[in-house]
Amino acid sequence: MERRPIIVINFGSQYVQLIARRVRELGVYSEILSWDAPLEEIKRKNPYGIIFSGGPASVYEPDAPLPPQGIYQIGIPILGICYGLQVVAHQLGGRVVKADHQEYGRAPLRIIKPDPLFEGIPESFDVWMSHADRVEELPPGFERIADSPGSPNAVIAGKDKKIYGLQFHPEVAHTEHGKEILGNFLFRICGARKNWEMGDFIEEKVKEIRHQVGDATVISALSGGVDSTVASVLVNRAIGGRLHCFFIDHGLLRLNERQEVESNLRSLGLNVRTIDASDLFLDRLRGVEDPEEKRKIIGRTFIEVFEREASKVKGAEFLLQGTLYPDVVESAGIRGSAKIKTHHNVGGLPERMNLKLLEPLRELFKDEVREIGKLLGVPSEILKRHPFPGPGLAVRIIGEVNREDLEVLRKADRIFIDELKKAGFYDEVWQAFAVLLPIRSVGVMGDVRTYEKVIALRAVESTDGMTADWSRLPHEFLDRVARRIINEVRGVGRVVYDISSKPPSTIEWE
Ligand code: XMP
Repeated sequence: MERRPIIVINFGSQYVQLIARRVRELGVYSEILSWDAPLEEIKRKNPYGIIFSGGPASVYEPDAPLPPQGIYQIGIPILGICYGLQVVAHQLGGRVVKADHQEYGRAPLRIIKPDPLFEGIPESFDVWMSHADRVEELPPGFERIADSPGSPNAVIAGKDKKIYGLQFHPEVAHTEHGKEILGNFLFRICGARKNWEMGDFIEEKVKEIRHQVGDATVISALSGGVDSTVASVLVNRAIGGRLHCFFIDHGLLRLNERQEVESNLRSLGLNVRTIDASDLFLDRLRGVEDPEEKRKIIGRTFIEVFEREASKVKGAEFLLQGTLYPDVVESAGIRGSAKIKTHHNVGGLPERMNLKLLEPLRELFKDEVREIGKLLGVPSEILKRHPFPGPGLAVRIIGEVNREDLEVLRKADRIFIDELKKAGFYDEVWQAFAVLLPIRSVGVMGDVRTYEKVIALRAVESTDGMTADWSRLPHEFLDRVARRIINEVRGVGRVVYDISSKPPSTIEWE
């Protein structure tokens, strides 16, 4: 039986996936189509309803993206969001103009007329706005439902309750009651039935991967982290033995990490080969102090090693990557820099090796990936792992990296993480780790003057790693960790706690 979707029409918004995701969270299947998709295609899908996304254009510009005019005649409910609202107003005979004051960020919305779209929601609440144009005159047959200080027509509705427009973004977390508004659209306006669960995603992806890959072979570089593991388990379910995974030990892993990752991955039935390239990496890093130079050497060496090993796999046509939606947004330059992802995504490799990319998680967010991982039987230990940077401990030893310092850092880091787990804080912080500083500090142990290394502890709260604040871990806890590190790790004489937020500092020290 064909599953009836909600169709999200993409006008170039950075939030389009988020809209589709919210619909799925509400239990209704959703699909994204481009704004120029033919009307026939939309009709063929027999959607419950259509959502127009936002977008950067202005409807009154000559090349503005507009859907086929016939979309308003097929009798399917439509919800226009931001630019989508302006599209509705413009195409149905209203007037959209450049606003005197742009409205960005939080704005109070006031409901003027009760409407099924706002059933069960207070009469005024805060919404998230981001627009430079506004609806000046309503199209015939429309009425005003709500306003905000910068948008007299912040919500408009056709009198037959089929077509709606919202100037604000109900899909973003900053809009209060956003999910309820979308839910009202789906269930009260469109009469949608729940027809979607995460398990369905797995089933459909497995079919899609089989179709895309055919008889070919897929190669994957595993880090042992959430994204690459879940992606590999998913592809393994689709094509089994034709997935070849590589785990490269660059000598910059944490204590026992290699053994743990290997046994985890094997228990998931993956065909994994570990490549011990630690000598090569550490040799090349000898004498190098500059952080960027260290990263470049590691990135280059990683590609070289992976390329050498992967080229031995016969019939490899695809390279699997655990790219998530935020990575896609980042690489498109919409927010932040894409630089941290170059190593992570083995950049440049697919073209060099003439491989096609396979990115089955590209429309998902991290928490959705965790949910899928859980359904696929990935142990919670992997799903809850803190992010770990591609260059590993090399960016946590400030300055030159050598084996001796790696040993010291590994022991200190393990104590910190063990204590976090014991105290129940590990799952509460986004990321925690130890850093080895390139300085020595004076101390006294048993009447003897010491002159030893300094460890910095870092623990942060974050939702996506783009911004972060330092974790307010209890003093007694930090005291316990510091005592253990100084007592148990030879060579460390002092422990400090990092209380910088990002920005202006970054999460990692290098
Ligand atoms: P920063 O230090 O830039 O880190 O605030 C943000 C998040 O990204 C991780 N990170 C990396 N991940 N390759 C990665 O795969 C890298 O080169 C890299 N550098 C930083 C970092 O651990 C944090 O979670």
